[in-house]
Amino acid sequence: MKFTVLTFDSIDSTNTEAMRQARQGADEGLCIVAGQQTAGRGRLGRTWISEKDAGLYFSIVLRPGIETAFLPLITLMAGVSVHATLAELGIEADIKWVNDVHVNEKKICGILSETSETARGLAVIVGIGINTRSSNFPPEVSDTATSIEAEIAAAPPTSQSLTELLTRHLSHFYAVLNGDNGPETIRREWKERSSYYSGKPVRVVLDDETFSGVTDGLEANGALRVVLPGGSVRVVQAGDIQRLRSE
Ligand code: BTN
Repeated sequence: MKFTVLTFDSIDSTNTEAMRQARQGADEGLCIVAGQQTAGRGRLGRTWISEKDAGLYFSIVLRPGIETAFLPLITLMAGVSVHATLAELGIEADIKWVNDVHVNEKKICGILSETSETARGLAVIVGIGINTRSSNFPPEVSDTATSIEAEIAAAPPTSQSLTELLTRHLSHFYAVLNGDNGPETIRREWKERSSYYSGKPVRVVLDDETFSGVTDGLEANGALRVVLPGGSVRVVQAGDIQRLRSE
């Protein structure tokens, strides 16, 4: 995939801009990177705090050719790519289903995938926010969030070098997803990088119900299987997962 990176000092949301560009016909591989976001968005309508130069605020336009049923695997592919990027910086991370990357149980990255029908077909926008500095975390998030700065002794990478690393891994794993046995290989790559794959006691929070169980692998499309105390299996396509302590 050929990457074109458009950099903004400040923007509302890199996902919103990538979506605008996709609707205007942007090619796959267009990346939007901003020094800060004034309306950074997280999942479930949440705000993504996007202080100036405290994080990588990155979105990429994809025009996937894979079967529609496998589209959710794009988010898993992005998580694997972030995990590999952090590993190159010496950070051992964990992927929390479906879109969070954690280090020692604190969130270092969130991923927001959105789709849009465009004149050129379906576009998927993958937005990735990686905390590079914790210096300006508000107190309410400092217990649950971490940053590259907090996890390594060296100075955190610049947005530009982090973008280069990340796009290299995205290019690799997106090609894997599109290749022979792509979905199966991405699920395996994800399994190797996530303690949530199986045997993890979790609470699942859906719009209208909450239940607890133990994770039991992924469905073909990346949905999470959770075994309930009675032994039946629930398949979670979307929702929030919280780790339960087993002790
Ligand atoms: C989440 O964990 O809820 C997902 C957070 C995704 C944040 C990134 S930052 C770059 C891109 N632009 C946005 O507005 N959101 C995503």
